[in-house]
Order: sequence, then C-alpha cells, then structure tokens
Amino acid sequence: MDLFEYQAKALFAKHDVPTTPGRVADTAEEAEKVAAEIGKPVVVKAQVKVGGRGKAGGVKLAEDAKEARARAEDILGLDIKGHIVKKLLVAEASDIAEEYYISFLLDRANRNYLAMCSVEGGVEIEQVAEESPDRLARINIDPTVGVDVAKAREIAKAGHLPEEVLDAAAVTIAKLYEVFINEDASLVEVNPLVRTPNDEILALDGKVTLDENAEFRHKEVFADFADAGTTDPLEQKAKENDLNYVKLDGEVGIIGNGAGLVMSTLDVVAYAGENHGGVKPANFLDIGGGASAEVMANGLDVILGDEQVKSVFVNVFGGITACDAVANGIVKALEILGDEANKPLVVRLDGNNVEEGRKILAEANHPLVTLADNMDSGADKAAELAAK
Ligand SMILES: Nc1ncnc2c1ncn2[C@@H]1O[C@H](COP(=O)(O)OP(=O)(O)O)[C@@H](O)[C@H]1O
Ligand SMILES: [Mg+2]
Repeated sequence: MDLFEYQAKALFAKHDVPTTPGRVADTAEEAEKVAAEIGKPVVVKAQVKVGGRGKAGGVKLAEDAKEARARAEDILGLDIKGHIVKKLLVAEASDIAEEYYISFLLDRANRNYLAMCSVEGGVEIEQVAEESPDRLARINIDPTVGVDVAKAREIAKAGHLPEEVLDAAAVTIAKLYEVFINEDASLVEVNPLVRTPNDEILALDGKVTLDENAEFRHKEVFADFADAGTTDPLEQKAKENDLNYVKLDGEVGIIGNGAGLVMSTLDVVAYAGENHGGVKPANFLDIGGGASAEVMANGLDVILGDEQVKSVFVNVFGGITACDAVANGIVKALEILGDEANKPLVVRLDGNNVEEGRKILAEANHPLVTLADNMDSGADKAAELAAK
C-alpha cells in the first residue's frame, strides 16, 4: 500500500525522524487555520500518491495564514498526473541550504535490502541516476545486520554528503531504516532530505510503501491509512473476499487457478483479441488451489460487477482440486448468482479428472456456458464473444 506524504510523516514521527511540524487539511479554511496555529511561514502541499508535485504546482510557500488559504484554493482540485487533489499538508516552511536524497528499498534481484543516497536530491532521482550515476550511491544492506548509526554514516558518505553533516545525517538515516524495518515497508524514500543553514537534517518529503503481506502485524496502521475512496470498488470487494484480483482495462473477464496460469491467460487473450477488434483482458483473478463453489461464485460476482466486461474466460488446470470439483463449483456459482450471471462464459478445463469435469458442464447445459477444448481456442472464443 502506497501512503500519502502526511501518512508517511506520521510513521516518521513515530520513529523520531526529524521533519517540520504540520497537519493535513481538506479545505482552504482548514489550511488557513493550520497555518495560523503554526504561526510561521508554511508550505501548502498537495496530497496525491504521485511524485513531481512541486513541478506541477502542487507545493507552494505562504508567508502567513491568509496567503496559505489562497494557495490552498489554488491547489485543491488540481489535476496532478491524473490525481485530483482533495487533501493538503500544511507544514512549517524550512530554510534550505542543500537538498539530498535517501531511500531504502527491497533489492529483489540480490535478495536483500538496498540503500540509495545522493548529495543531489530535490530533483528526480532517475535523472541523477542517468546523468551522474557516480553521484548516486547504492549500498547493499545485509538484513541480518541492519543499519546502525555507523552504517548510516557510511551510506551518507558514499552519497557524497558533506563531512560537516555526516553525523547528523547518520542519525536521521538510521531512524529511517527503523521505519523501513519496523513498519514492514518495501520502500522508504525521502527526497529531499534537507540540510538547514544551521546544519540540521530534516525529512521534508516522504514516500512510503507498506508490504500488504504484513498487514496482520500492523492492523491499526492499515486501518488508519486505508483509503477506500482511492481504491477501486471492485478491488475492494475482491479484497473482502480474499481474492487475488487486479482490475485492468479490457472487456474479457479472466478467472484461473494459479498466478502463472492467469498471467499467461492474460497474454493469450490479449493476443487472441487482436483478431477481434482489439479486445483485451479486463482483470487478473487467481482463485488459487481450492476452487470451491463459493470462491468461484465470489470471483464471478466481482468480474460480472465490472461494467466493461462483455465475456468471461474461466481457465482452470485441475490439480489437487480436480476438474469435476471445479465444474461443480461453476454450476453452483451460476445457481447462486442467478440473474446476476448475465454474460457469456467460456470454460476451459484440463488436468486432473478433466473428463468428469467436462461431463458435468455438458450435462448442466447452462445457456451462458461454452466449453473450450484448449486455452487458445477458449481465448479466441471469449474474445469473439466480447467483440460482439
Ligand atoms: N517544509 C518545506 N519547507 C520548504 N520547502 C519545502 C518544504 N517541503 C517541500 N519543499 C520544497 O518543495 C520541493 C518539492 O516538494 P516535495 O515534498 O519534494 O514534493 P515532490 O517530490 O512531489 O515534488 C522540495 O524539493 C523543496 O524544495
Ligand atoms: Mg520530493
């Protein structure tokens, strides 16, 4: 789960990462009130889950509360890369001497953690990586050892931060690692990490991604930060039913068992769709190993709730859960859904007990169901039905 800056900063505060005080506001009046409470010049910052807000006019300085209100009016409702601004962070403005970059992230290729640090912060880090790669240090972190203040100092030094601020930076960087580990984040990025004129080191921006697989360890944090308004309602419904579902943009609903099979089904349907007016997969949905009637019904319910869906391709390879069980699941699911099942289904079964599975579906003879012999013909049929 990606967090808003103000949420990231709430986690920073929990771990004593220094930043400037501030609060979130939903309206220009509230922004004015927060600025009045702060009683000093402030920055008014758009809260959207996308970078480059500054360049897009979403971060503005204000000398006093009145001006904060005016800037809030400018920023609320702005469209920043497709994200409409509905919330603002009003924070004390900081004097900035220099802007640095620091992040901790998962390094999947090397199966460990990675720290990245650069004296050239503030700008987009991709640009630094491209134009002056030697200025962006990449330091592998052994997760079993972690990052103490000494290691953090090494990181800061490798990123070419000036000698005078290495100690202060090390303290802040070690705390950011604490956030990364203790909150089960897969990314903690601060850009800019600033040096003030009196050599304090502050985190002025914060981008944090929390690992959803660790939600059970952080129930309260996830409940506080869950943001139903920005989650797709179908994805929300799938989540409530413990389904692995991702909404996509096409017309052919997809259900399969096993992530690998579903991924290849997406490819095959996209390929078949080229012969049928360019129809595409509408979603990823993996119903996993134990495809009971209920799971099948929940999956179909989510997919049929997608107005863009014109047909559904059920692609199941029977393993531990055999094809006859899956076929019974489909028949029962259609019973459970009744009139809500209103789009054609193409079903391809293969693997364990395939003959029995096909027989069950043939005998049920449901008007919406077409049986396919293999994955390619099934994808083609589903694409054809979606294009009609
Ligand atoms: N509290 C602050 N005080 C002063 N300047 C700030 C403050 N927060 C952000 N800025 C300035 O605005 C720039 C952009 O803000 P940032 O939070 O990094 O948003 P984004 O990365 O989305 O553009 C920063 O690089 C910094 O120069
Ligand atoms: Mg930034």
